[in-house]
Amino acid sequence: MPLHLYWGPSLAADANIEHPTSNAQHPTKNTGAHSPAVRSTSTLAVERSAFDVRRECPPPPPPPPPAGLDALVRTGDRAFSPTLAGAPWGISLDTLPLEYPVHGTSDFREPALEVYQPANGSRILDLRYKTHRITPGKPALAGLPATFTRAGHTTDAETLTLVLADALTGLEVELLYTAFAAHPIITRSARITNHGKATLEIRRALSASLDFSTAHDGHQFIQLSGAWARERDVIATPLRQGRQTVDSRRGTSSHQQNPFIALAQHGTDENRGDVYAFNLVYSGNWMAQAELESARQVRAQIGINPFDFAWQLAPGDSFQTPEAVLVHVTDGGLGGMSRALHRFYRAHLLRGHWHDKPRPILLNNWEATYFDFNADKLEKIAATGAQLGVELFVLDDGWFGHRDDDHTSLGDWVVDRKKLPGGLDDLARRINAQGLSFGLWFEPEMISRDSDLYRAHPDWCLHVPDRARTEGRQQLVLDYSRAEVRNAIYDAIAKILRAAPIRFIKWDMNRHLTEVGSATLPPAQQQEVAHRFVLGLYEIMERFVTEFPEILFEGCSGGGGRFDPGILHYMPQIWTSDNSDAISRLRIQYGTSLAYPLSTLSAHVSAVPNHQVGRVTPMRTRGDVAFTGAFGYELDLGLLSDEEKNEVRRQIESYKKLRPLLLTGDLYRLISPFDGNRTESAWLVAAPDASEALVTHVTILAEATAPHRFLRLRGLDPTKTYRDTATGATYSGTLLQHAGLPIPAAKADYTSHQWHLVAVISEQ
Ligand code: DGJ
Repeated sequence: MPLHLYWGPSLAADANIEHPTSNAQHPTKNTGAHSPAVRSTSTLAVERSAFDVRRECPPPPPPPPPAGLDALVRTGDRAFSPTLAGAPWGISLDTLPLEYPVHGTSDFREPALEVYQPANGSRILDLRYKTHRITPGKPALAGLPATFTRAGHTTDAETLTLVLADALTGLEVELLYTAFAAHPIITRSARITNHGKATLEIRRALSASLDFSTAHDGHQFIQLSGAWARERDVIATPLRQGRQTVDSRRGTSSHQQNPFIALAQHGTDENRGDVYAFNLVYSGNWMAQAELESARQVRAQIGINPFDFAWQLAPGDSFQTPEAVLVHVTDGGLGGMSRALHRFYRAHLLRGHWHDKPRPILLNNWEATYFDFNADKLEKIAATGAQLGVELFVLDDGWFGHRDDDHTSLGDWVVDRKKLPGGLDDLARRINAQGLSFGLWFEPEMISRDSDLYRAHPDWCLHVPDRARTEGRQQLVLDYSRAEVRNAIYDAIAKILRAAPIRFIKWDMNRHLTEVGSATLPPAQQQEVAHRFVLGLYEIMERFVTEFPEILFEGCSGGGGRFDPGILHYMPQIWTSDNSDAISRLRIQYGTSLAYPLSTLSAHVSAVPNHQVGRVTPMRTRGDVAFTGAFGYELDLGLLSDEEKNEVRRQIESYKKLRPLLLTGDLYRLISPFDGNRTESAWLVAAPDASEALVTHVTILAEATAPHRFLRLRGLDPTKTYRDTATGATYSGTLLQHAGLPIPAAKADYTSHQWHLVAVISEQ
């Protein structure tokens, strides 16, 4: 996508308004001998060559702005929309599309920025256009995870930095827009600098605010909401006048809401419809909303949650907001939106050694043993895994301190010699001797009251003086805003990683934040702690991935409680949910896939009856459903029947062949487990060149005398013929697309079918 702020037909672009006092949050069209205060954000893009000082040749004349932009903006008097001071009659910020709105000067919608000025108590800002620049590539965002251009590929993207300033306070806002050449994506963030003489208090600084000038009632507001073990239900509601807001106040991105929203045209489905989506590269408190105002314009926003947030901005200091990822597909529907995000994240968010590598098939001992294990027991479980083809054994919670249950020892990252007398190094080598690599669980952000660390440093947890300390899962949260706390944890964990052959880390986080206060910050900065905690988290994660680049990190927060692009920047896969039941996972994985690539979804086969919901599902179905992610097992494979072991062996062989496709393929969701009476679900993963596809269909509830069913496929080449690798049957791509693949009648609930289709002949 070329750098162009006119972003699809619905994005407001400003009209031909000339008034020297125009508020530069909405800089108006460049009229030639203009004041720099009046310049159109849309014309900025087409004029870019004139400003590109790196060019050696005289720049070509700028192309004219796209015809018809003016018509998108309605001006003129509107009752109860006051005229902006100094502007011609009828120019009100209340009716104009704004790039970074503030409150208090005629716009009554939600602001993107609020700054309290202690000198006189004012919250008024008057941001005017100052300058702009367009640079190749994309700058890093200090201390924050962000999407990036690949090393040496500055042509992947270009960045517009639009600089606005408030003369009275000296506040400067740089709005960063990066457009990626190969993706329908723009990323946005804001950097706010205090060039004045007095400290200012930022009370709200969102990452992106986007005004649509065309009517948007009838659009769907789509959110991903849920709970522990029931993450990311897809919820769509019509936009209505007022605000629809989703957020987290829990200190993490949370199980309850995900930092993602989409606005979809009426009638949008998986394959059709115009969709805008917003995702935040952030793991702490966030907010996203859409506001439909009385003239049927919509303002969509995303950023750090203003709730309980404030930041003291001393003279000379800057505040960088997290990055928002904005995607627009003009007629690709929700499927097109997801594929755009997946491709973008695989290319420009995930990084490090493992981001594009097939992931090892792992065996995790959590649901096999919980806290009840010793070295011999673990070795035996691993040995069975090795015989069946597993590649990595992961030792979960309970290996340190004296942690025989979840009341104790977090923070004491020292091996429990009662359980593991030879230590971790000895256990890792015994596992390695089976032909498996070894991985380990940590929960680095937590501290138990019953720990040596807490006894030595009772002030190292988040807390508020003279107030009780609320516990979640019998534990407290370390104060990661403090460097000495992070350093101590880093040193303890890094010592273990340096000493034993550990190839995988599961990084868990099992409670949300309360009494969010820090012992070392002054009272005026206590509302910074939640954000400082996240910055501290990112700093320590960055240190780990830098010192241990070949370790595969898996994020986790009681399952999928922190499934967000911020974590994915450090950890290319996340344990999707503590609910490992295959039927529950249909919905959890479907919802998660709206925004996140399949390679990032960790999915395991576990025992039946399932430990979370008690459901009994066939081993085959459990495997088929878990295939759609970073695949593994979480049970004692030694307890399986021979028949089940054979099925596990088959699954592992099959996954090893299919994992390159699953890692890089395009997802097409075919039947939603959220639709109708929820009797089935289906999806396919197609190679980008349509040379092969893996199709999965799951029957949730079987039906007697069921009608003949066909599954219409997507993502295949209609000119190709496809062979089912299991049966040898062939089907034309056209037939699969228009008539569909015959679905065998299900003889029982919870049964599944998988087809691996490979293109054999081109018919043209
Ligand atoms: C929560 C995780 O999601 C589980 O997989 C497991 O690691 C437990 N924590 C261990 O306490």
